[in-house]
Amino acid sequence: MNRRELLKYGVLGLVSNYGLSRLPAFAQSPFPQPRTLQVRRTDGLVEVQITAQQSHLILGGKPVWLMTYGGFPGPTLRVREGETVRLKFTNNLPEPTNLHLHGLHVPPSVDDSMALVQPGESRLYEFRIPKGSAGTYWYHPHVHGRVAAQLYAGLAGLLVVEGPLDALPELKEAEEYLLVLKDWVFSGDRIPAWTQMDWMNGREGSLLTVNGAVRPTLRAQKATLRLRLLNASNACYYRLALENQPLYLIATDGGFLEKPVELTELLLAPGERAEVLVRLSRPGTYRLQALPYDRGAMRMHGGMHSVMGDQGMGQGMGTMDHGGMGGMGDTGTMGSLMGMGATRLETLLTIVAPANPKPMPLPTSLAPIERLDPAKAAATRRLVLGERMMQAEFFINGRMFDPGRVDIQAKLGTIEVWELVNETEMDHPFHLHTYPFQVLSRDGQPAPYRAWKDTVNLRPNETVRIAVPLRDFGGITVYHCHIVEHEDRGMMGVLEVRP
Ligand code: C2O
Ligand code: CU
Repeated sequence: MNRRELLKYGVLGLVSNYGLSRLPAFAQSPFPQPRTLQVRRTDGLVEVQITAQQSHLILGGKPVWLMTYGGFPGPTLRVREGETVRLKFTNNLPEPTNLHLHGLHVPPSVDDSMALVQPGESRLYEFRIPKGSAGTYWYHPHVHGRVAAQLYAGLAGLLVVEGPLDALPELKEAEEYLLVLKDWVFSGDRIPAWTQMDWMNGREGSLLTVNGAVRPTLRAQKATLRLRLLNASNACYYRLALENQPLYLIATDGGFLEKPVELTELLLAPGERAEVLVRLSRPGTYRLQALPYDRGAMRMHGGMHSVMGDQGMGQGMGTMDHGGMGGMGDTGTMGSLMGMGATRLETLLTIVAPANPKPMPLPTSLAPIERLDPAKAAATRRLVLGERMMQAEFFINGRMFDPGRVDIQAKLGTIEVWELVNETEMDHPFHLHTYPFQVLSRDGQPAPYRAWKDTVNLRPNETVRIAVPLRDFGGITVYHCHIVEHEDRGMMGVLEVRP
């Protein structure tokens, strides 16, 4: 990599932003925050530009080639409820891409995942941020067949919507941080080609980062923190816990809960977001950990030499089965050799409390959440997730994605109940575009609290019922598994909503 090559890709800025001089010893890197996207703001109109490009960055202390929106994570787009955003997206990659506004309730004609932006071209995305949508969203590519490669390579950024509730003293006085969780695997300075095993499981790498940093340290100024979390991994699950300290969940994918919910751990599946308050009640350090989680991914038995090469798993095949206590991935070293990121306990971030910390009281109430009455549903549908594992082919109701086929036709202005059934042996995070939903029940157990979601995890053989209000605008949109390899390999369907 010489200066001319760098200039060719216009990424010198990135290298100096993430330069070696700013990345001291591995375990004590300071906690970086994604930069905020520069906007032009006039009378409720927000004008912004986002560019996808090849990028040369330092990650985990090593220079690597990625595809990003100008650094990893991409710049955070911060907007307010009610504002109109005029976003000019430019594709400087050598391949087609596009931009998906994950979780935002905007018309599917704008957030059109079937539209392509060719190399060197731009597209204008103009949309209004709905009232009541304050929360943590994100943007990433959505080109069918290339989502896994493009997302894994670093094309992801946060979109934060601010609303009146953020002015609550208990929130406003908290110290806010963004946490983009992402795993990596490299072969030299490149991301290796996908193996059959990657397509089956969804790719995971053993290098875990928070905002692109390995085990960084956050030195808190205040004793109450508000963390906005995003799982931007293709397939890695994060079962998060703060050592000896609860997390107070205040928002899910679609924004605020009615009141904080105390949790000892929080599972964040690919695509999901959460906001938590952390109360540092004693001085010293607190580790944010990813606890082991078995998502039923296929594991190798035997043939270790074949899986230890640069390419990761999948050259030679030992015998395989789904994860579980017998799998090699459950033993520490093997797990790391095999690159299964979160199958063992990992520290993601160390938080250092200020001296004499005095955390604030929790907010007693947040946003009211509408009760959706399943008895009023205009339709009840059953969506069954299936797989032909060895072929790495994935289905919804027995069919692979076909952009020319409408799988569900629904009526604008109605509420539907969808029964999501996982008939496979691994977890799948189900994601619906355009229309935020609420989880009603899991295997018949009512949801413990009401919340707006756009992505919900399904354990093997689990049935999750969701209520979906199809409001405000119709059109053609999609739903899919957010293990994006599964999406690329068929686990996606088309929803058409008409008046
Ligand atoms: Cu974040 Cu259709 O996905
Ligand atoms: Cu899946």
